[in-house]
Amino acid sequence: MNIAIIGCGYVGYAVAQYWHHRMSFMVTATTTTPERIPELQTVSQQVVVVKANDPLGLKSVLKNQDVALLSISSKRLGNYEQAYLDTAKNLVSVLKENSTLKQLIYTSSCSVYGDRNGVIVDEQTPPTPASSTNKILRETEEILLTASNEQLNVCVLRLGGIYGPGRELAKIYSRVAGKTRPGTGKEPANWIHLDDIVGGIEFARHHRLQGIYNLVDDANLTNREVIERVCKEHNLPQVIWDSSQTSQRKYNVNVSNQKIKDAGYKLLHPNMIF
Ligand SMILES: NC(=O)c1ccc[n+]([C@@H]2O[C@H](COP(=O)([O-])OP(=O)(O)OC[C@H]3O[C@@H](n4cnc5c(N)ncnc54)[C@H](OP(=O)(O)O)[C@@H]3O)[C@@H](O)[C@H]2O)c1
Repeated sequence: MNIAIIGCGYVGYAVAQYWHHRMSFMVTATTTTPERIPELQTVSQQVVVVKANDPLGLKSVLKNQDVALLSISSKRLGNYEQAYLDTAKNLVSVLKENSTLKQLIYTSSCSVYGDRNGVIVDEQTPPTPASSTNKILRETEEILLTASNEQLNVCVLRLGGIYGPGRELAKIYSRVAGKTRPGTGKEPANWIHLDDIVGGIEFARHHRLQGIYNLVDDANLTNREVIERVCKEHNLPQVIWDSSQTSQRKYNVNVSNQKIKDAGYKLLHPNMIF
């Protein structure tokens, strides 16, 4: 199986490791950063330096591939529109001339659901992204889904907040420990461990999933509960919540993971690892 991983950051690298070492697939990894070539060579057969909004570059990366994973972020470009929208448009146009690809998997975000006052949402719930960046993420999903046809399945995995080795919760929350945060912290937290992102992506590939699937764990905790637990476990000073101030968070929904579980995916970490 020939697989291209466009964007080999925290998620893409872990998936490359799994597909290259555990599944022995032929992995082509992309980066925009030539200095990363040696690191990516350890998890792939081939590394290509390319920006995903470059049509010729992307065309050559996708040649003879069976599966592509798109897992980019705006960290390098600093511009959401260029990183996500230009890439999605480019990819869809390149795919019109590609006859080998059977599966495209894209890592989106549950933040596209927006602020619905903490209610349960599933893939049937119309997204109401509440920030310009989340609107771009939603538009990116829509553009990519237009590429699906009889030969090509497109799976959008909406990820919860990502944590795992190197991105531990203690590291993430050490910056806010002991500080005052606006709001009550009662918003659902919706996290997903890196192992389940790799597991979910492999599940999507194996079962050729089509359409949108949420990928969050079963923990069903609020932000406040997560932060309190992290601070307690790691001897950090607790956060003080100031309910007289409005929370800045533009994402307040309780994300259901039922659809991917009904499809047969079994979470490796249903509960959070603190
Ligand atoms: N962080 C979260 O909690 C969270 C939550 C939900 C969803 N997500 C989504 O999950 C995905 C993966 O996140 P991550 O944490 O793995 O991101 P990451 O570590 O920042 O990695 C993103 C990768 O994208 C590559 N990239 C950036 N601009 C590019 C471009 N124009 N063309 C090609 N490649 C480009 C970068 O390449 P080089 O650095 O190698 O040059 C980088 O390796 C993202 O799509 C993000 O929106 C994240």
